[in-house]
Amino acid sequence: MAMERIVIAGGRPLSGKVRIGGAKNAALPILGATLLTEAPCVLREIPNLTDVAVMLSILEHLGAKVEVKGDTVTVEAATLTSLTVPEHLMREMRSSIIVMGALLTRFGKVKVSQPGGCDIGSRPIDLHIKGLRELGADIEEKHGYITATCKRLRGTSIHLDFPSVGATQNLMMAATLAEGTTVITNAAKEPEIVDLQNFINSLGANIKGAGTDTIRIEGVEKLHGTDHTIIPDRIVAGTYLIAGAITGGQVTVENVIPEHLESLLAKLREMGVQVETTGDSVTARVTQQPLRAIDSLRTLPYPGFPTDLQAPMMALLCVANGTSIVTETVFESRFKHVNELRRMGADIKVNERTAIIRGVPALSSANVAATDLRAGAALVLAGLAADGITVVSDIHHIDRGYVDLDENLRALNARIERIGC
Ligand code: EPZ
Repeated sequence: MAMERIVIAGGRPLSGKVRIGGAKNAALPILGATLLTEAPCVLREIPNLTDVAVMLSILEHLGAKVEVKGDTVTVEAATLTSLTVPEHLMREMRSSIIVMGALLTRFGKVKVSQPGGCDIGSRPIDLHIKGLRELGADIEEKHGYITATCKRLRGTSIHLDFPSVGATQNLMMAATLAEGTTVITNAAKEPEIVDLQNFINSLGANIKGAGTDTIRIEGVEKLHGTDHTIIPDRIVAGTYLIAGAITGGQVTVENVIPEHLESLLAKLREMGVQVETTGDSVTARVTQQPLRAIDSLRTLPYPGFPTDLQAPMMALLCVANGTSIVTETVFESRFKHVNELRRMGADIKVNERTAIIRGVPALSSANVAATDLRAGAALVLAGLAADGITVVSDIHHIDRGYVDLDENLRALNARIERIGC
């Protein structure tokens, strides 16, 4: 419900374990990739998030059969009835642009409404369009719609000006059924790209190199079905570890791939948090407070520090001992959470893409509003650390990327409730 809020009585250290589910940013492109084949695809560990629900409604709008049983989703895109993603669905979630490559390469046509920007930047798609044109697509942008057509895409070499996650994914999918070989250089290296490669190869494709900056795709004629389990969500896992740190407690995240979290774990250790890992779990434990500030934190494409953890990390730096400097190099305006953190007593100065955070002894509870999904998570974390009652509104943003955040935090000993309007 639009008016739901999260209410937190802060000041209590978290303790306990939380199992991490499938990654939103792996599930969304892989759901798009089910359009590459007419055979049924069984996908496991699909998180129950509003962004996933939007993607499922897009697949159904196109005519695919979708069946949801808990965290398992079966998609069968045998015969589609539309090749257009309508405006209202594109506006709900701009990353629906991810269906372009699959629809174009299999059917020779796709029409999508121009994706809107969002709260973290203009989110252009020029690299997607440029790459599809290099693969041989004719693309027209008119009346707020983008229409792409082609006979059969032809493999080629594509160099991305920026290692864009979405552009890499869209072009991998487009190249899968193209004629000949495609090589993408300066490709994004995120784990979600590797998961997409593994998914598409399990359909019978031939893609190599995901996880490195050069991906090679041999076009194939036809694909079959598969049964694939989505990788765990490294951003959700990182958010819970930071929650443990900001409350001076101890949190273990289970069912994770620790190497996907390395850049965060290094920064938590730099602050004085004790971090232990096993094969599929990570524990963050605070043994002394306040934690140390971080001289310089720069968000970077993987394996650098993830931009999606910049806001949650900033909440933690607000109560560290000393001054930290955070530079957001990936998105041009991803500091919307700063004003809300200031309402809680944070001392932060922003100059373009750089924020200077001077740690304060404690944050003070306040009424704050989520502006985007990771900013919303950061405000919940700040509320966990602040004395008194913090109320976070506009929490529909949070539900886009976190399954049962309040419930999971309550199970970790937090005093937190979700209340209706
Ligand atoms: C994906 O977005 C994620 N979303 C984002 O997660 C994540 O923050 C981002 O990758 C970076 O890791 C999904 O996977 C659904 P990009 P995406 O293309 O693909 C510029 C979250 O919180 N760019 O790598 O849109 C762009 O403007 C979300 O879960 C172009 O200039 O990210 C941005 O500045 C937020 N032209 C930078 O590249 C293009 O054609 C990174 O964008 C494409 C991108």
